Amino acid sequence: MIRKPKFLTLLLAAVLLCGSSASAYESQGKFGLIPQPRSLKEGQGSYMFNRFTVAYEPGNAELAGIADLFGQKVTPATGLPFVTVTSPKKANVVFVLAADTTLGAEGYRLSVTPKGVTITAQEPAGIFYGMQTLLQLLPEEIKSPALAEGVAWTVPAVEIADKPRFAWRGMMLDVSRHWFTKEEVKRFIDEMAEYKMNRFHWHLTDDQGWRIRIDALPRLTEVGAWRAPRVGDWWGREPQRPGEAATYGGFYSKADIAEVVEYARRRYVTIMPEIDVPGHSVAALAAYPELACMQAPEAVNVGNKFYGIDENSLCIGGAKTMEYMEKIFAEVAEMFPGEYIHVGGDECFKGFWAKCPKCTKLMREKGLKDVNALQSWFIHEMEGLLKAKGKKLVGWDEIHEGGLTPEATVMSWRGMKGGILAAEQGHHVIMTPDNHCYIDLYQGEPTVEPNTYSMCRLTDSYNWDPVPAGIDPSYIIGGQGNLWAESVPTFRHAEYMAWPRGWALAEVFWTDGQLKDWPGFVRRVEKHFRRADAADVNHARSMYNAIVTTEADSLGTLRVSLATEIPGLEIYYSFDNTIPDLHGLKYTVPVVVPLNASRITVATYRGTEPVGALIRLEVKDLKARAVKSERVIGNI
Ligand code: ACM
Ligand code: ZN
Repeated sequence: MIRKPKFLTLLLAAVLLCGSSASAYESQGKFGLIPQPRSLKEGQGSYMFNRFTVAYEPGNAELAGIADLFGQKVTPATGLPFVTVTSPKKANVVFVLAADTTLGAEGYRLSVTPKGVTITAQEPAGIFYGMQTLLQLLPEEIKSPALAEGVAWTVPAVEIADKPRFAWRGMMLDVSRHWFTKEEVKRFIDEMAEYKMNRFHWHLTDDQGWRIRIDALPRLTEVGAWRAPRVGDWWGREPQRPGEAATYGGFYSKADIAEVVEYARRRYVTIMPEIDVPGHSVAALAAYPELACMQAPEAVNVGNKFYGIDENSLCIGGAKTMEYMEKIFAEVAEMFPGEYIHVGGDECFKGFWAKCPKCTKLMREKGLKDVNALQSWFIHEMEGLLKAKGKKLVGWDEIHEGGLTPEATVMSWRGMKGGILAAEQGHHVIMTPDNHCYIDLYQGEPTVEPNTYSMCRLTDSYNWDPVPAGIDPSYIIGGQGNLWAESVPTFRHAEYMAWPRGWALAEVFWTDGQLKDWPGFVRRVEKHFRRADAADVNHARSMYNAIVTTEADSLGTLRVSLATEIPGLEIYYSFDNTIPDLHGLKYTVPVVVPLNASRITVATYRGTEPVGALIRLEVKDLKARAVKSERVIGNI
C-alpha cells in the first residue's frame, strides 16, 4: 500500500537509485555499512544526538513499533532520553511514508544533515531498514553500555538511497541436531535483521530431534524431542544404549512459536518452518513406529551412523502416514502466518520403500514406475495439502527426482544446478548452493577450526552471483545462508559460524552486484568485528589465517604454497620447529619442504601486528593433502 505523506510536506528529489558513489567511500571503510547501500553521498559535517526524539505519522502502529525498537537499541548505551513526538519540528529523527516507486517495498532514503535525520520509504519495512542503517552509522559503542562513557553520539552527514536486489534474504538455523532455546533463536533473528535479512528458515525436524509441538500427535515431542546426551564428533558417537535415559533436547510450545513469530514480525523477518519429510525422519519414526516401512528405530539418533542401515524415511504406503501429515501440516500452517512451508525432500533414502509391501502396493495402484516416482507422488500430495491451507510448498532440490510438482519453489543446495533446472521449467528458486551458502562448513584452515567438513571461506560466500548466466533473474527470488548444526553444540558457536559469512551473504542478497567490492568489504567487516565485540556477538576471524596448499611430484618432493584470503597481510613461516615472527622467513614464492623437516609453522601479520592463528602442520599431513604435480619440482 502506498501512503501519501500526511504530516510532512516533503519534496522528494527524483534521484534514481543507481548511484555508484558508495564503493569509493566504503572501500575506505568510512561509513562501514553492511550491506553496501546502492547510493551514498557524503555530506558536510555531522549530526550529534543529545536526546532521541522520533516523529512519525500519528497512530501508525507499525512505525510506532520501529520507533520503539530504535529506542531499545539506542538508550541502553547512550543513557539519553528517548521520546516519540507527533511534530517533525520537535524531532531529530523523522520517519516519513511517501510515494516513491523507485524505492519499492523495502527501499528507503536516509538523510543525515547537521540539523537532523529523515528516513523516507514507501512502506514501513523501508523505514525499518533505514533505521538499521542509521544504527550502523552510530559509533560502535552504541552496542555496549560498558564502553559508552564519554562517547559523542554523532552520525556523519550523508544522503543514502537504497533498496534490495532480492526479496528473499534468508538465514536457516537447524535446531534439530542441536537444541537452541527460543531466546537464542530470537537473538539469531535480531542479529540477521540488523543486516537486512528478512527470511528465517527454521529447520524444526530431523533425525536427531522433533522440535515443534503438534497437539494431535504429542509423542512427536514427548519422544521425538529427546535423545541420549553425547559430545564428540558427529557420526563417531555411540548409539543410545538400551535403558539409557534420553535427556538431551527440547521443543517449542505453541506459545513459544507465537512469541518467536511475533518477535520476527517486528523485525520484518518472515519465518518459514521446515518439517523435513519423507526422509530425515528418525525422530518421528521413534515417536510413532507405525510411520515406518518395516522396523522403526527404537530411539532418536544421537549422531551415530545409520543412513541406509536403519529406517529414517516415512512409509509412503503406510495407512497412517497421510493422516499424520494432514494433522502436522494443519497445525504448522496455523502457527506460521508466512506464505511458505518447507517440506524438506532432501537425501531421502528410498531403499526400504523398494522392499516394503505397503509402499510397493501403493506404487502398483498409482502406476508409479520407481521409488523416485513414489517420492514425487508424496511431494504432490504435500503440495495439495498445503495449497488447501493457503500455503506454498518449498523443497530441497531433490524434489526434482521423479518430476517437480506444479507450483513448487526449489531451494537449490547441491550447487546451483537444481535451481537452474527449476528456473528453466518456470519455477521460483531460492539459491543456497553449499559451496557458497553452507555456513556450517570450515571457514579457514581446518587444523585451527572446530571440527566440521568441506570448505566455504568468507570469499566463497562473498564472491558469487545467485543468478546464473543465461537464467531469467525473475525466477531467482533470492538466497539464504544455511547453518546446519551437527557440529554446532552451543549458540556461541552458532554465532561463530554465522558471522561474518552471514554478513557476506547479506551483501550478496541486498546489494547490487556491480557495487560489491571485496577489499572494501573486508575493511567494513573489520568495523563490524568491533561492533560484534561490543555487543558480545561471537564471530570468526578465520579470514586472517593463512591458506596452506601443497603439491607433490612423482618423486615425492613436496612444495608448499601460502596465501591469504584478504589483502595486506604478510606471511612468516618456519620448518625448524620455532615460532615464526617478523624476524623469521617471509613468504614470497612456493617453497620446497626441506629434507627431514617434520612440520611447518605459519603466522600472518599486518605490519607489526600478528593477526591470524598460528598454524602448525606436520609434513605427513602436508603430504596427505598434496595435489599431484606433473612437474619434477626443484628448489626455487
Ligand atoms: C541438505 O543439506 N541436506 C539440504
Ligand atoms: Zn513403506
